[in-house]
Amino acid sequence: MFLLKSLRTILLLCLNVVFIGKSNGLSLPPKSSHTCVIGAGYSGLAVSRYLKQLGLNFTAFEAAREPGGTWRFDPHVGRDADGAPVFTSQYKYLRVNTPRQTMEFDGYPFPESTPSYPSGPCFFKYLKSFVNKFDLLPNIQVRSLVTSVTWADDHWNLTYFRTDERGDHTVACDFVVVANGQYVRPVVPMYPGLDKYQGSIYHSHDYKAPEPYSDRRVLLVGAGASGLDLAVQLHNITEKLVHSHHLKYNQPNFSKRYVKKPDIHGFVENGVIFVDGSFEEVDDIIFCTGYEYYHPFLDETSGLTRSGKYVMPLYQHIVNMRRPTMTFIGVVNKVITKVMDAQAAYIASLIAGKFKLPSEQEMLDAWFDHAYRHKVAKEINTVGPEMDQYFAKLSKEAGITRNPPVLTHIRDFNAKNRLEDLFNYRDFDYEIIDNRSYKRWYNGGGKRAEECPVEES
Ligand SMILES: Cc1cc2nc3c(=O)[nH]c(=O)nc-3n(C[C@H](O)[C@H](O)[C@H](O)COP(=O)(O)OP(=O)(O)OC[C@H]3O[C@@H](n4cnc5c(N)ncnc54)[C@H](O)[C@@H]3O)c2cc1C
Ligand SMILES: *[C@@H]1O[C@H](CO)[C@@H](O)[C@H](O)[C@H]1NC(C)=O
Ligand SMILES: *[C@@H]1O[C@H](CO)[C@@H](O)[C@H](O)[C@H]1NC(C)=O
Ligand SMILES: *[C@@H]1O[C@H](CO)[C@@H](O)[C@H](O)[C@H]1NC(C)=O
Ligand SMILES: *[C@@H]1O[C@H](CO)[C@@H](O)[C@H](O)[C@H]1NC(C)=O
Ligand SMILES: *[C@@H]1O[C@H](CO)[C@@H](O)[C@H](O)[C@H]1NC(C)=O
Repeated sequence: MFLLKSLRTILLLCLNVVFIGKSNGLSLPPKSSHTCVIGAGYSGLAVSRYLKQLGLNFTAFEAAREPGGTWRFDPHVGRDADGAPVFTSQYKYLRVNTPRQTMEFDGYPFPESTPSYPSGPCFFKYLKSFVNKFDLLPNIQVRSLVTSVTWADDHWNLTYFRTDERGDHTVACDFVVVANGQYVRPVVPMYPGLDKYQGSIYHSHDYKAPEPYSDRRVLLVGAGASGLDLAVQLHNITEKLVHSHHLKYNQPNFSKRYVKKPDIHGFVENGVIFVDGSFEEVDDIIFCTGYEYYHPFLDETSGLTRSGKYVMPLYQHIVNMRRPTMTFIGVVNKVITKVMDAQAAYIASLIAGKFKLPSEQEMLDAWFDHAYRHKVAKEINTVGPEMDQYFAKLSKEAGITRNPPVLTHIRDFNAKNRLEDLFNYRDFDYEIIDNRSYKRWYNGGGKRAEECPVEES
């Protein structure tokens, strides 16, 4: 079914290519160009730094009042103080779930004594120190929600809504870098009876802290990164924590109030029925059921085929082949955050004219080669097991820093270790020794987690 569907999509794409023929494309504008970056989270900041270093003219449009994206905590649910959508999913007591060494900007490490798993606020502080270090604020226009990006013959018209003056503005951009985040659009699967359920329904996107759930009966759905993290935060504070998932892992010793359940059959007014026929009465549901791609500001003039599950065809998961002056950061699955930094370096290098893209036909061939190996449409944007080769390819083509294989080793170990030792895997520090090896030691846990020697300026 999926296979058929994706083959059909691929066929349609071929036809499309014939119709559009030789798109505009590869004669990119000169260095006097203006680049528009959408979003000033980790990815938008990463590309801003490289654009600045290369002396290019650019503006980053950010919907919120300050940069930081996912790492900025916002107490509002749904809409922020200015009426813009709350894009961040940050919550209290969050600690990173991959060692900081897999998240650091190139050449800008945390102070050496920082724990490998710093807190969310510490990572946010690190982003702010990065903004100051590279003097990015003058190029970031906050309170500016991008609402449309349209091709206008030889440039992009980008329209944004100023949430302070409540008006629309349009600017011309020679290049557009889409860096609006991949965890901004929550997904909730359809279940029979959910519309009849009378309790509260949330998504982990709206979760801010465990305290409001104390002494309540809560259903947690899913055991991805958010589902497991919330289980740890909630198991000993709720009256009862009912956790529906089908992950096989070394379940830690949760409190007696924790109950593991299989998948959901459906809902009734006061509770939930599972596929094994059992029933639980619950006050609140928190769906930790993930996110999908979300680019509501793009239209058909982008030339892309898109859904919540894929964006295609993108060369190197970055370049819009039809209109190569549009690039993406973070439309890529199962990678470490440093991949976004490498994509940013690639893009800045491309805009600066430091390397040339292959012909549209060659880019399409490369894309087909990848698509052929990932036949399911929702895997078109997956890098996962090929991450180290991906770092190598980007570096070879664009002449940027090559991230070493040791990062992939750390990612793979951490992913396994997290499922082996959910309560304690963060009580270790890592040090990279060389391109292939690292060391890791127990750091005593406890207060170590709160240390954050980052200076903001
Ligand atoms: C809860 C949570 C925990 C995570 N923990 C980790 C972790 O421990 N380790 C790790 O490596 N990764 C983690 N991640 C992944 C995380 O997404 C990346 O680390 C990184 O923050 C991605 O940065 P980004 O800039 O691509 O997206 P974001 O941080 O989401 O930034 C996107 C920015 O674009 C802005 N924006 C969106 N739409 C518009 C628009 N239309 N107009 C203007 N601006 C717009 C948003 O306001 C936001 O500032 C986590 C993600 C989540 C959701
Ligand atoms: C940068 O681009 C903007 C928008 O096109 C333009 O107004 C500004 O003059 C440019 N600045 C420089 C230094 O080229
Ligand atoms: C692009 O924006 C300019 C200025 O607002 C406008 O005059 C022009 O018609 C727009 N072009 C398209 C194709 O939307
Ligand atoms: C709940 O359990 C977690 C994980 O073991 C622990 O860190 C936390 O201190 C506990 N909280 C309470 C209120 O007991
Ligand atoms: C749970 O506790 C028991 C007894 O203290 C211990 O043997 C076991 O290893 C613990 N399980 C985990 C996953 O920590
Ligand atoms: C590590 O990798 C980089 C990039 O590939 C290379 O330049 C460097 O020589 C390598 N260092 C060692 C010690 O192998």
